[in-house]
Amino acid sequence: MTNIFIGGAWPYANGSLHLGRLASLLPGDVLARYFRAKGEQVLYVSGSDCHGTPVAVQAIQEGVTPRDIADRYHGEFAKCFEQLGFSYDLYTRTDQEFHHGVVQELFLKLLDNGHLYRKTIQQTYCETDRRFLPDRYVEGDCPVCGSRARGDQCDVCSTLLDPSDLSNRACKICGNPPVERPTEHYYVSLSHFQAELTDDLNNAKGWRENAIQLTRRYLEEGLVDRAATRDLTWGVDVPVPGFEDKKIYVWIEAVSGYLSASKQWAAETGGDWESFWLKEREDITAYYVHGKDNIPFHTLIWPALLKGAGGLHVPDRIISCEYMTLEGKKFSTSRNWAIWVPDLLSRYQPDSIRYFLIANGPEKRDTDFSWREFIHSHNGELLGAFGNLVNRTLVFVNKSFDGKVPEGRITEEWQRRMESLYREAGTLIEEGRLKETLELIFSTVRHANKYFDERKPWIQVKEDREACGDTLFTCVQIIANLTNLLQPFIPFSCDKIRGFLSLKPAAWNWCNVPAGEPLHHVELLFERIDTSRIEEETRRLEGLSF
Ligand code: MF3
Ligand code: ZN
Repeated sequence: MTNIFIGGAWPYANGSLHLGRLASLLPGDVLARYFRAKGEQVLYVSGSDCHGTPVAVQAIQEGVTPRDIADRYHGEFAKCFEQLGFSYDLYTRTDQEFHHGVVQELFLKLLDNGHLYRKTIQQTYCETDRRFLPDRYVEGDCPVCGSRARGDQCDVCSTLLDPSDLSNRACKICGNPPVERPTEHYYVSLSHFQAELTDDLNNAKGWRENAIQLTRRYLEEGLVDRAATRDLTWGVDVPVPGFEDKKIYVWIEAVSGYLSASKQWAAETGGDWESFWLKEREDITAYYVHGKDNIPFHTLIWPALLKGAGGLHVPDRIISCEYMTLEGKKFSTSRNWAIWVPDLLSRYQPDSIRYFLIANGPEKRDTDFSWREFIHSHNGELLGAFGNLVNRTLVFVNKSFDGKVPEGRITEEWQRRMESLYREAGTLIEEGRLKETLELIFSTVRHANKYFDERKPWIQVKEDREACGDTLFTCVQIIANLTNLLQPFIPFSCDKIRGFLSLKPAAWNWCNVPAGEPLHHVELLFERIDTSRIEEETRRLEGLSF
């Protein structure tokens, strides 16, 4: 047995989730559900990233405390994830004592082990706002590509930046040019880990291509030590005298959430966090699931912190998504060009959303959400292919076999096909190739519909009742096994079918429904969405954006 750790990225608690973000998180839940069905020990954690400038600045803008903002969005995220069926073992938040304690312990370990040092630097300060400016609140021209960039990272060319690298700088709060002031900070010696991290990259298995490319680039440029503390009032205290008015840098502290959440899970449930984290154990595989803007934090910074602290298991698989665009354009929160998850959930089934986000997932390249595609994918694939197979089969059993699975034999070909589907789909999922997995499973769904059509049970039932029994029996077995196979992707519909057929909880292997089994409360899995909704939704989207 393997212990599978899955770390889902921690969304910033400064605004609602939009669909693009969700697309980068959902693969985590698919993996967790799959591995549990396979019988592995799974620990799947995440939480809300409550500190950091985005939250603090949102609070300033609204005239409330950062805690108010964090409470609001943490609550909203937790509710969305629940409605979408995310099966986190723990979804927590970073503005909690438990997390703070673990982060400080890690910080002190790094200090003890000689991976943190002090340095006085010139820090960007705004005389108008009378405060040191967080990196992302300094704007200026990127030294590499010349685009307008934030002080921490250039979104156009992905270079990691320091505010002092920028030219033509402006304070993002008031727009005035900032000045420099001296301040003392801790730095983490990323350079200590250059050789080891390069080795790890060269031996990496199961990293998405974007993660390999970007990480290689950073390593080739040479790792630069990064500040580990910041002049801020909202965050985790630096556990060292003289640093009372500073906080631990949000990125260092947020990634540590993977460890703190694991320990918190153990404390709350009596679970064993060490079986997912100890370096000497050889039975651990750790997946990290996030968007491409998070790559260096998961492939360089987090592994460096883990190595620096010592004794902890570093990331194995990096499932880093590309971006999702919306009707061909980049999502933009500031222009409200976005699909907000709570709004989408108020009108559409979670499985329709999950199906679309995986089938059109930005795995290898950017993909697009359009209302047309979304509604067609629901009507065509979920309802037209899968829903139809389930419905026509079970309705037929109800009508012609008194609501009981008929006597019959499954063809050998179908049995073999389903068994190899478990193997092939499982391999693809473990490699993070979820889109191909869905395609593969749905080609079997279509094949099953074809089988139904060709066997013509509506004629068989009159001419050869035994053959008709074989047909329906076979279709029921196919459906039961598809329910296992699709459970990671569309769990709500699969749970319904489980109810119709009294199936056991999902397992990743062949299952059987005995002849004579009565069906229960069969109902439609999906309603058709009227295509007039395409225009309605597109108009709403355009009307709300500015
Ligand atoms: N809050 C960050 C973002 O939304 C992601 C943090 S992932 C973590 O981009 F691992 F660092 F927590
Ligand atoms: Zn300013």
